[in-house]
Amino acid sequence: MSKKYVIANFKMNKLDSEIVDYVNSLKPLVKDATSEVILSVPFVSIKTAVESAQNSNILIAGQTLNENDFGAYTGEVNAEMLCSVGASAVLVGHSERRSHFKETDKEVNKKIMKSLRSGLVSILCIGETLFDKKNNLTQNVLQKQITECLNSIYANELSHIVIAYEPVWAIGTGITASCDEIEKAITTIRTMLVNLYDEKIAQAVNIVYGGSINEKNIKEIAKIKGIDGVLVGGASLDPTSFSKIVMEFNTKEKKTKKAK
Ligand code: PGA
Repeated sequence: MSKKYVIANFKMNKLDSEIVDYVNSLKPLVKDATSEVILSVPFVSIKTAVESAQNSNILIAGQTLNENDFGAYTGEVNAEMLCSVGASAVLVGHSERRSHFKETDKEVNKKIMKSLRSGLVSILCIGETLFDKKNNLTQNVLQKQITECLNSIYANELSHIVIAYEPVWAIGTGITASCDEIEKAITTIRTMLVNLYDEKIAQAVNIVYGGSINEKNIKEIAKIKGIDGVLVGGASLDPTSFSKIVMEFNTKEKKTKKAK
């Protein structure tokens, strides 16, 4: 059974002190989680979050990175810097980065390369806009994003990439893609991976869904065939809500107790 990922994206929310409180509240609520629990926090709070999450099963991620090595890039942060403060993963190509900061698939590809080579898990965000959906362009958009973002990425590096299918029209809108739409998109992405790599490799890639997930709709979404977890924005800001989402992905088998 593949590992599940439940990833929070705080975006530009929460002060450093609030992140300490959040992690302390979340820790006991997810201590029995069988999935990877990852919090993507603002750069300035990564170190605090990592320290607060010590001795727990919670991992900390950045929300983006710059694809360059050290140098004259005022305001930017690179993969090595993220690693140096204890981040384990990083979001790459989130739709808000693509729309507000004009990040292209080519840049996203470079960011993935840099994060992989520094040992970070890359959480690659892809997805169509409402315009694309209305014009039946979803397939083409996903194909372009997958092909360009994974350009020159070796098969053995894919185990360090989580693909987040996030239709742009579902992010922060309260409109979730239907279970059928999500299942179809996941299957489409997997087929594209089969064509780029092979069947075995494609099956092993973790594909999660993101877009207006909450503690109510997660019950249905968690049952979708082929889904390996979720990326949660708004509903991740409350530790209790987020923990309920995390626990929906718990594998049901109970560990057998050792005989005394
Ligand atoms: P949302 O955000 O859950 O608030 O829709 C998801 C995301 O931006 O990753």
